[in-house]
Amino acid sequence: MKNDCIKVEKRKAEETRRKLVSSGVFDKTRRVFSDGKFVFFPVLKKISGFEIVKKKARVRTLKPNSIKEALAGVLSEKELALLVSSFDIVGRVAVLEIPEVLEKKQKQIAEAVMRVHKSVRAVFKKASEMQGVFRVRKLKWLAGEKQSETIYAENNCRMKLDLKKVYFSPRLVFERKRIAELAGENERVLVFFAGVGPFALVIARKHPLAKITCIELNPAACEYARENIELNKAENVDIVEGDVRKIIPASFVGVADRVLMPLPKGAEEFLREAFLAARKGCVVHLYSFAEDAKPFEKALKAVRAEAKKQGRRVKVLCKRVVRPYAPRVSQVVIDFQILN
Ligand SMILES: C[S@@+](CC[C@H](N)C(=O)[O-])C[C@H]1O[C@@H](n2cnc3c(N)ncnc32)[C@H](O)[C@@H]1O
Repeated sequence: MKNDCIKVEKRKAEETRRKLVSSGVFDKTRRVFSDGKFVFFPVLKKISGFEIVKKKARVRTLKPNSIKEALAGVLSEKELALLVSSFDIVGRVAVLEIPEVLEKKQKQIAEAVMRVHKSVRAVFKKASEMQGVFRVRKLKWLAGEKQSETIYAENNCRMKLDLKKVYFSPRLVFERKRIAELAGENERVLVFFAGVGPFALVIARKHPLAKITCIELNPAACEYARENIELNKAENVDIVEGDVRKIIPASFVGVADRVLMPLPKGAEEFLREAFLAARKGCVVHLYSFAEDAKPFEKALKAVRAEAKKQGRRVKVLCKRVVRPYAPRVSQVVIDFQILN
C-alpha cells in the first residue's frame, strides 16, 4: 500500500529485514531509512505483529544486471541482438566493439556500460584493428573521463598502462598464471615482446629468486614496464628496450632456462633467437594465431624446421588453445623443451 512502512527499534532491524524479505512483503523499489531511534522498512502490504506507519521512503534506483537490461527500451530487439556482449574492462577503462549499424546509439551504449559496471570510469570503442609492430589499436572516446591510462590488477600484481600507447589484453590472465606455475624457483627467464611486463610480473611474484629479463621494442611499453616493476617491488625483473633480433645475439646467447614468445602474430619468425638464447633443457612457450581446423600445424612445423637448422633436438610438452581470437581463428601456445 502507498507509503506503508514497518517501524521497528534499531536493535530489531536486521531480524525484521530477514523476516520481511523471506515473507515477500519487503518493497525493494523503496529505500530503508532511519530517524536515529527507529528503522522504517517500506512494505507492499500489512504484516501482523508489526507497527505500520505512513512514511515517504525514497525510491531506489535499481542497478541493471546486464547491458542488455540497461538498454531495454533504448535499443530495439533487433538492435539488442546485434550488440557485441563480450568486451574488455582493463582497470577503470572499458573498450567496446560497436557494430556500424549501432553507431548512432554508441553514447547510450557506453553510458549503459558505466551504469552496470560501477568501477568503469571511461568508455572507449575500438576504432581500428591492432596495428603496426607495437600492436596498438586506435580508440575513440565515448563516455566518462577522457582517460585511457589505468591500473589493472591480476594474479596479485598491479599494472599501469595506457591502452592508446601499448598493447594489453586482460584475456591472458589464466595463461600468465599457468606459465608462472610452470616456472621454477631460480630460473633465468627471458620474456620476448614483453609489453608492459604482465608475464614477467606474474612470474616474479611467484618466484622471487628467478631472474627475469623483458625485451620490448615500444618505448612507451618499456616506460610502463619500468613503472610496474616499482609498483610491484619486482626487484628480480629488468627491461631491455630494443629489438629481440639484435638484443639476443648481442647479449643473451645460451643463458635462458625459459623463453616466452607472446607476440603472437609472426612469433615463429623469432624462433632463431629463441634457440640462440636457450641453454640445454630450456623450455620455450611459442604463441601463435592459427586456423581452428589445424591449430598447431604451422607452429610445430616452424619449431621442427628451426631445430633442424640449428642442430638441436626438441620435445613438445604441451599444445593448447589459449583463447578464440577471430571467427575460426584462435591464439594457441606450444610449450617445447630444447634437449641439447
Ligand atoms: C601482442 S604484444 C604482447 C605484449 C605483452 N607480452 C602482453 O602480453 O601484454 C607484442 C609486443 O611485442 C613488441 N614487439 C614487436 N616486435 C618486437 C621485436 N622485434 N622486439 C621486441 N619487441 C617487439 C610490441 O611492441 C608489443 O608490445
